[in-house]
Amino acid sequence: MKGIINIMDREALLALAREAALNAHCPYSHFRVGAALVANGKTYVGANIEISSYGLTLCAERSALASALSHGDAEITHIAVACLDAPVHAPVSERTPCGACRQWLADLAPDATLYLDGIKQDFVASDLLPYAFGLPTA
Ligand code: THU
Repeated sequence: MKGIINIMDREALLALAREAALNAHCPYSHFRVGAALVANGKTYVGANIEISSYGLTLCAERSALASALSHGDAEITHIAVACLDAPVHAPVSERTPCGACRQWLADLAPDATLYLDGIKQDFVASDLLPYAFGLPTA
């Protein structure tokens, strides 16, 4: 957790995401990803964490979302994601959240603005995952 901020500025949040990516644990892919989000006005970060059973890897987005909710901050308004090792001319597909993260975003941050490093356009979860699965809360 980085504390309360009053900047929800795109570039500032992307800079935090890039900084978080420096803490990625990715000895297998060497593909560093960082995420930074604003929840209840506070910022939280996450990085991808790979383990030897590759499929159990935790992505940066889910890491940041789990951190925010674990601290009791669930009102997520902005999320930035940075793939540090995507080549400058990499296609959009090397910078967008994976399918699992899209479902997490659809469930936990449906109204948040998504800033993706290296992509000018901003998104919301439903842009990336239309007709997402969802259950009513009891
Ligand atoms: N990765 C993320 O952290 N977020 C995504 O949305 C896509 C993929 C990570 C997982 C793995 O550690 C590495 O990038 C290569 O797939």
